[in-house]
Amino acid sequence: MKTDIIKLLIREASKARMNAYAPYSGYLVGAAVIVPSGNIFTGCNVENASYGLSNCAERTAIFKAVSEGQRHIDGIAVIGGPIEAVTDMAYPCGACRQVIAEFSNEDTIVIVAKSEEEYEVYNISELLPHIFQLDK
Ligand code: THU
Repeated sequence: MKTDIIKLLIREASKARMNAYAPYSGYLVGAAVIVPSGNIFTGCNVENASYGLSNCAERTAIFKAVSEGQRHIDGIAVIGGPIEAVTDMAYPCGACRQVIAEFSNEDTIVIVAKSEEEYEVYNISELLPHIFQLDK
């Protein structure tokens, strides 16, 4: 994936992060997914007073894309941190890795970002070895 697209995804994820509803953790996460058409779907974490009902940014973005008819993601960028500033990489949680895997292949990239200048790129097998998958 070209660097300018990676930076665009990070920018979109950062914007989505500002919509995070995270009054309990104070930890704001944004994600942006790009699909083969080039369309981008964004998401943020959405928490709940019943904590376990909270949804992560990655899954919000992916579920938005899938609910709009998408079935494959070419890339996903994630950026997260406390409300004041992003100071560290926010790696996708295990549940989100499994959901990313559902709609990925070996060419899909997972971008974990601190900023448009500081980011890491992975494929899903690096983040989730021995993926659980069923034949479709
Ligand atoms: N969170 C995400 O949005 N994505 C992740 O991959 C890890 C965690 C959210 C969930 C919760 O709202 C907050 O970050 C603190 O865990």
